[in-house]
Amino acid sequence: MSIAAQEAAEAARKMFEAVYGAVPTGIFAAPGRVNVIGEHTDYNEGFVLPMAIDRYTAVAAAPRLDGLLRMVSGQGETGVLEIPVASLIPGERTGWADYPAGVAWAMIGAGALPADFKGADLAFSSRVPVGSGLSSSAALECSTGLALAALSGKPISPAELARLSQYAENAYAHVPCGPLDQLSSAFGAADAVLHIDTRTFDIAIHPFALGEAGLALLVMNTKVQHQHGESGYADRRAACERAARLMGVPALRDLSFADLERAATVLDEADLRRVRHVVTENDRVNRFVSLLQLGPLEGPRLNSAGELLTASHISLRDDFEVSCAELDIVVDAALRGGAHGARMTGGGFGGCAIALVSTERLERVAETVSEALPQAELFTVVADRGAYQVA
Ligand code: GLA
Repeated sequence: MSIAAQEAAEAARKMFEAVYGAVPTGIFAAPGRVNVIGEHTDYNEGFVLPMAIDRYTAVAAAPRLDGLLRMVSGQGETGVLEIPVASLIPGERTGWADYPAGVAWAMIGAGALPADFKGADLAFSSRVPVGSGLSSSAALECSTGLALAALSGKPISPAELARLSQYAENAYAHVPCGPLDQLSSAFGAADAVLHIDTRTFDIAIHPFALGEAGLALLVMNTKVQHQHGESGYADRRAACERAARLMGVPALRDLSFADLERAATVLDEADLRRVRHVVTENDRVNRFVSLLQLGPLEGPRLNSAGELLTASHISLRDDFEVSCAELDIVVDAALRGGAHGARMTGGGFGGCAIALVSTERLERVAETVSEALPQAELFTVVADRGAYQVA
């Protein structure tokens, strides 16, 4: 049980009752995520280390019998959107409803919903800030997938939920993301991080009870979303795929430090830096996990973990070039204020950064960041459970 999920669920229930004038059959919640380390490695079949956070999107749901999918959200100002199930076809992007509609479409196509699926009423309420890199879209998708599976009486596994949610985002909403966000939302666990091999989808869960170790994870939302964010992401992905082709490997995951010398003779200067980021970032993820395996983060282990986070940011800033001025400002300020380590999290070009901070320094770090970027919204998160049926 998650208190944060229950709060979102209560809001979704109220909205359902107010809008549809009926009682929902079930309420489902799925979390946003923070990626602790391992950025822009997921579409290179590499390693990531995310956690689901105590910020949820909940959906109250009931089946329909007339072939209509009706959706309303406390966050969207669009009123009730109505789409006949038969008209679920990937096309122009229209807004937030593409994500739940895309999941219904993907589930029907994959046989996870019956071909004669008769529709549903859905009411969403979300506590995951939208457009800030905390995976509000994955939370929408995973809560929808769980709800539709339950309504149709055919359970869905977390792996299938993640896979179909990512497929919906790629093929219906036309966002070329990797599997990181959906896997985090589907598999999240309380007080734990997920070490995911994005080639095999093998997941190892490691304890990450920060509070017990006297630590906090501070999220620093810069509140900026740079216009070139989407094209920048697609460009980086294309560069990685091109580099893998030129290096003769299935994915950049297959390259190691030893290959960087050859990469320097095969790739242009910018692509070489993209590759160097991916190779070093995969290594940082695995080193971070080795530290966690030795016990709670304290003493020299805590220092090393912090250094890996900061090194990840520098690599994303200089080699992968997906940071921006505001992210660099909050990361630098957090470190000046005494954070053990800090980095941008998520796709970049705006959105959020995180800092690993001792609780007694939290106030000081927060003050330093607020002075450096007054518009930044600051809050702490804990690792919470993945998508589940709340009621
Ligand atoms: C976004 C994408 C993820 C991942 C990250 C970068 O969040 O949705 O798939 O690529 O960026 O690590």
